[in-house]
Order: sequence, then C-alpha cells, then structure tokens
Amino acid sequence: AKRIGILTAGGDCPGLNAAIRGVGKTAIVNYGMEVIGFNAGYTGLIEKDYIELKEAHLSGILTLGGTVLGTSREKPYKFVKEGDSDKPELIKQNYQELGLDALVCIGGNGTMKTANRLAKEGLNVIGIPKTIDNDVWGTDVTFGFDSALNIATEAIDRLHTTANSHQRVMIIEVMGHHAGWIALYAGMAGGGDIILLPELEYNIRSVCKKIEDRYESNKPYSIVVVAEGISHPKETSAARHLAEAIQTYTGIETRETVLGYIQRGGSPTPMDRILATRYGAFAAESIAKGDFGTMVAVINNELTTVPLEEISDKLRLVEPDHPLIAKARKMGVSFGDEYL
Ligand code: F6P
Repeated sequence: AKRIGILTAGGDCPGLNAAIRGVGKTAIVNYGMEVIGFNAGYTGLIEKDYIELKEAHLSGILTLGGTVLGTSREKPYKFVKEGDSDKPELIKQNYQELGLDALVCIGGNGTMKTANRLAKEGLNVIGIPKTIDNDVWGTDVTFGFDSALNIATEAIDRLHTTANSHQRVMIIEVMGHHAGWIALYAGMAGGGDIILLPELEYNIRSVCKKIEDRYESNKPYSIVVVAEGISHPKETSAARHLAEAIQTYTGIETRETVLGYIQRGGSPTPMDRILATRYGAFAAESIAKGDFGTMVAVINNELTTVPLEEISDKLRLVEPDHPLIAKARKMGVSFGDEYL
C-alpha cells in the first residue's frame, strides 16, 4: 500500500480540517493507502514529529476551524546560517525513513514555494491551496476565503447600524496581506461607501470628498472598508492612520475597527467545507495517478492541477480593472482614487 504524509503550514484558516479529511478518507477508503499527519507544518517534517492518521481520526473534524495537525510559519529553506542543521536534508531523510510515497502540503504561497523546492529535490509533492487572502496564483479560489468574507461582511453589517445611529464615519480594516480580495468582496457585500485596496493607489482628498458629498446629500455617516495592505505609516494601523486623517480634514467623528484574527477563526462556511473536501479528495486521486510537483486548483469551477514551478513566487492580486470594481464605481462606490 502507498504511504502518504499530510501537513498544514502557514497561517491557519477555516477548512483545513475538511481538506485533511478529504485527502485522508479518500486515500484510506478508496485506495487503501496509509496516512500520516505531520505536526505543526514543516516543523513536524524536520523533527519527524507525526501521528498515524486512521479513519477514526478523520471523523468529526469536518466542521472544526483551525487545523488538528497544528501549523507553523517554518520555512526550511530560509535563514540558514553557519552551524544550523540542514533542514532540507533532514526532510529528505525523514521522508525516506518513513517510507513515504507522497507528501501533501496544504498552505498558501509560502507553503507552495517550499513544496516546489522539495519537489525539485525528488520528493513526490502535491500542494493544496488555502488562505483567507485568496492570493494563490494558479487557482481561481482558495478555501478559507469564503469563511473570512462571511465574518468580515457580518462585521460591516454591525458597524453600519452604529455608523447610522451616531452619524459617524466607521472604518473597518480587514486582512489580505498584499491582496485586496477580502476588502473588495466584503466591502461590496456589506455595502461599503469607500473601499481601499493595496492594488489601487488612494489619496485622502478623494476619501474625504466622498464622505463630505454623502454628508451634504443627507447621509451623514459612511463606511470605509480598508485592506491591511494599503500604504500607510508603519508605526500605526491602516485604519488608525485613516481615522486621524478623516477626522482632521472633515471634522466628522470617526472610529476604527481592526478585525484581525477573528476573520481567520471558527467553523468553515458550507462553501469552504465543500471546496476543501473537493481539493482534498482530488489530491488523493492525483497521488494515485502519480501526478506530482503540482498544486490542485479550481479553474472555471473545474478541478485540475498546475505545476508548482509555475505558481511559486507569484501572487494573485486584484486587477485594477476587475469587473466588480468597474460595477462598484458606476454605483458611486469610491476607491479613494477619484481626485488627485
Ligand atoms: O495569510 C493570512 C494572514 O492572516 C494575512 O491576511 C495576514 O497578513 C497574515 O496572515 C498575518 O500573519 P500572522 O498569522 O503571522 O500574524
């Protein structure tokens, strides 16, 4: 029987357990494979810290947030100094000693980059894309995004009522690293008046003009949805920076909320459960076929695989002419770039 290893690496997100379960159950039930799970991402692979995953371990985890295997930001190819243990070498050794036929790496861009390096060293690697940021190149969608989007949208809904009651400007900062997917989608789903994305250059004048225009047309409150990755001074949050500027220039009372890790926690949405399950099952099928050095992907709602080599080092950002941005502009949503 084939023996496979699974690990989850990088920031956690809803749906990781659904993916582990999808790989594991398909591997065990359909192909009679043996499955082990490494603890804490690449750390478990380096330290040979793992558990045998039986079918019973995979029951009851579909709906759980986080990852039962744990995760870490360990990057085995980074920060190697004189005297450090040779982590890639340890990984290759452990892979051999454990008699693995394949390794499933579930993670985001950093994880795929490492997976690609390991594939080049001769390991049979397959990647599964996960991240709330939705910024993995080569696939249309990552699991975790829909769950984060739901949480961020609910948060905006709640801020709306307070903004309205107090006639305030409410700023909400969402995650996404260098990408604006969460901000764009939650901003649109939550009816944000101003949406600021890292991919579009904004200026305070445009932001304030929109707020003042609304004020003058009997809408004395505004919702500003801002991605954490927009340009702002390092010593403060994007939300705080904007709040100060808006209050100073408009004189309208302004409050900020940084949503933070709330948007990465808890149970996955039904869509994320299904996406993660499809990815997991497809990864097991790909292993059975011997399709390695690839990442499973969804392109036009079809499951496929793409070479890790092609995606490594790229980021999938929001294109400035994204159709949703164009539609939003026509409805009067500001992206903070209307005036110079
Ligand atoms: O990639 C997911 C993410 O939550 C990003 O949106 C955010 O920039 C980053 O991780 C935070 O990293 P950490 O978990 O190391 O604080």
